[in-house]
Amino acid sequence: MMLNPRILTPYDMAGRALKNRLAVAPMTRVSATAAGHATQEMARYYERFAQGGFGLVITEGIYTDQKHSQGYPFQPGITDDVQARAWRMVTDRIHAHRGVAFAQIMHAGALSQSNRFVDVSAGPSALRPKGEQMKFYYGAGQYPVPRAMTEEDIADAIEGFAQAASLAIKSAHFDGIEIHGANGYLLDQFLTDYTNQRNDRWGGSVQARMSLTLEVVKAVRQAVGVVPMGVRISQGKVNDFEHKWPEGEQAAEVIFGSLSDAGVDFIHVTEFEAWKPAFPAGQNSLVSLSRRYAPKVALIANGGLHTAEHASSVMEEGADIIAIGKAALANPDFPRRLASKEALDEFDASILGPIANIKNSELALA
Ligand SMILES: Cc1cc2nc3c(=O)[nH]c(=O)nc-3n(C[C@H](O)[C@H](O)[C@H](O)COP(=O)(O)O)c2cc1C
Repeated sequence: MMLNPRILTPYDMAGRALKNRLAVAPMTRVSATAAGHATQEMARYYERFAQGGFGLVITEGIYTDQKHSQGYPFQPGITDDVQARAWRMVTDRIHAHRGVAFAQIMHAGALSQSNRFVDVSAGPSALRPKGEQMKFYYGAGQYPVPRAMTEEDIADAIEGFAQAASLAIKSAHFDGIEIHGANGYLLDQFLTDYTNQRNDRWGGSVQARMSLTLEVVKAVRQAVGVVPMGVRISQGKVNDFEHKWPEGEQAAEVIFGSLSDAGVDFIHVTEFEAWKPAFPAGQNSLVSLSRRYAPKVALIANGGLHTAEHASSVMEEGADIIAIGKAALANPDFPRRLASKEALDEFDASILGPIANIKNSELALA
């Protein structure tokens, strides 16, 4: 299939001009200082994507507070002005190449593997997460059983997202905010039936399980005002790849519809293979369901979309932006290669081993 030429055309994302429809997907690289400050090495790493032609660069998940949000050692944070200012090295380099930079803000919840502020993890319910900690983020063995969050913990988490978003815009000079609602982290733990067994207003129906994400959206909007702001949503999780929403398309209607009603500027959907049907029954992908139930919201699609064929097919289903993960690690100049029909380098998984931190060999690529 031919490349849909719209992919290389500009896009207005809630008032920010993107030079094309290609974004770098958020990717954790555990390369900050132990105190969670972004580094020169990270600035160079992110710069390569803007230099290589990506219109939008979404950062790795950045922890939001000095309580339970941190997930990994050497994960960058944005919990105070010093951490926020360290990100200016990154945003300056992205801006120097006419790139737009969004901060992904995340709370690890029960999937925390390391936290220098508190000794216990916290999640919706005191249930041990499935699976094992990720070795390439310095983890080993089972996840600990989290503490079930109190009303006060929940209020702190919401406040953390709002403050982190404010610091990201005002001190770090990011152009927009992506709230991490996907992949098994705190907001997704609340959304997921089997990790959220609460009997209070935060648990029960899909609408109730979605309410924490919607409260975070509201608080972040209040904190940042009119800047691009959206939420990343998935079915699969880092510790449960195959998960499907048990309510099927009805869940999609509630989730995407309520995000649209809450006034997000964009929804970022991610699936292992984004063009495939989202549920065993039915043909609709998560991209097309998001387009259907949030028709006016900008739509970022991610998951195996580095071929012209797949990227073009999700554009036809209504995606506005295509986010590229592993293929961007292998080809920081992916947009240029796509435009000139140059062959792509294969993603080499050894970049992410034994630890997923930034490797010197990557920084040479431009
Ligand atoms: C090393 C690595 C780190 C990742 N870290 C994050 C993250 O911090 N936040 C997030 O939302 N997704 C994260 N992801 C998922 C990617 O954003 C993306 O969804 C995934 O790589 C699939 O897209 P792809 O097929 O283009 O690689 C990570 C993926 C990789 C490979």
